[in-house]
Amino acid sequence: MIYGKIFYKGEFTEAGIEVENGRIKKIGKLVKGKKVDGIILPAGIDVHVHFRDFEEKRKETIESGSLSALHGGICLVVDQPNTKPVVDRAEVYFRRMELAEKSTYVDYTLNLALTNKNVDKINEIVEKIREKYFLPAIGEVFLQNYNKEFEISYETLTMVSKINKKITIHAEDPRFVESGNPNFLFRKKEAEITAVEECEKIGEFHFCHLSTREAVERVKRGSFEVAPHHLLLSTGDYNRLRELVNVNPPLRQKDDADWLLRNFSKIQILASDHAPHTIEDKKTGSAGFPGVETTYPIFVYLAKRSLISFNDLVEKIAVNPAKTFGFNDYGEIEVGKFANFAIFDLRDVKKINSDKLHSLCNWTPYEGFKAVFPNQLYLRGEEVLESPLRSGIAF
Ligand code: DOR
Ligand code: ZN
Repeated sequence: MIYGKIFYKGEFTEAGIEVENGRIKKIGKLVKGKKVDGIILPAGIDVHVHFRDFEEKRKETIESGSLSALHGGICLVVDQPNTKPVVDRAEVYFRRMELAEKSTYVDYTLNLALTNKNVDKINEIVEKIREKYFLPAIGEVFLQNYNKEFEISYETLTMVSKINKKITIHAEDPRFVESGNPNFLFRKKEAEITAVEECEKIGEFHFCHLSTREAVERVKRGSFEVAPHHLLLSTGDYNRLRELVNVNPPLRQKDDADWLLRNFSKIQILASDHAPHTIEDKKTGSAGFPGVETTYPIFVYLAKRSLISFNDLVEKIAVNPAKTFGFNDYGEIEVGKFANFAIFDLRDVKKINSDKLHSLCNWTPYEGFKAVFPNQLYLRGEEVLESPLRSGIAF
């Protein structure tokens, strides 16, 4: 079907790919196909997005968020349940999946929330959802939240850790977060480090968006992801971003961000924590950055510049997310897997411009950053970038 420079088994090889029924049938030098301009990488998986929708359509919808993902080379997302209303019951879960089935451009999965209201019935809810859907995880579970309904104690976590389902944790310990103060300076590094330490004592968790070397080095049993902004941005961006700067966990010092980027090979998963808010909402303190469309393109540019390796990039954005969450059809260009490819022409470097992005929030913290956007995206064998279709599956 296509022929070119494929990232296959950890290195680039000139070969063709044959596809049948959306899956890769054969890979080889003798397999014929249309010659592709650029490198052929596995399409990315973003295990942490907030596509809002429901009562927050002005910030993002599953339709706009997934279109943004598609243009960023992402073929599969894991949406987070802190929506309005929150996804804390099977009925809301089903309603959101039905909405996704109608509106998603890329493949879509959804986490279930854990709150102080649903904790007593969490097993039951998980079982009910699993009869119909894959359910990647319970999470992101908040240890600290301005809304106490979402603030889960270590005791509760101990109780639910026995459940046979992955739990993903927003690791910030409330003892180190000055409550009621949205300013990022009041969310200390200790909040994250302590939360990881305490959770590691309890069980095997997946930690969302770790932002410090100390926390990363304390994960022994569990798995973790980092968000692009904690590698690419720092408190040094405070003056540039001004009222847009709030994000949880907050931006750290330049040294912390540099350590994460220099040690990119030690990171397990790169996930955007795409958390769109309108500029008006940012002005009143809403925390979060959009990122689903810019993550892969910025990191492809960094790999082009040899600041990271392509092998590490593919591992963090495709291979490891698939392995960690059990997305067995995704994550690699390999016989039997879905034919999901992102094709990047490394000569085509662009400066990021928020007007060209597809998120409804209409801004990016990476304005003017250099990036290589995909020029083609294959989703189960179909090219979907030229004239996007809402052909994603919600599972
Ligand atoms: O900055 C953040 N925004 N951090 C989170 O954990 C939640 C997210 C959101 O939903 O806006
Ligand atoms: Zn999040």
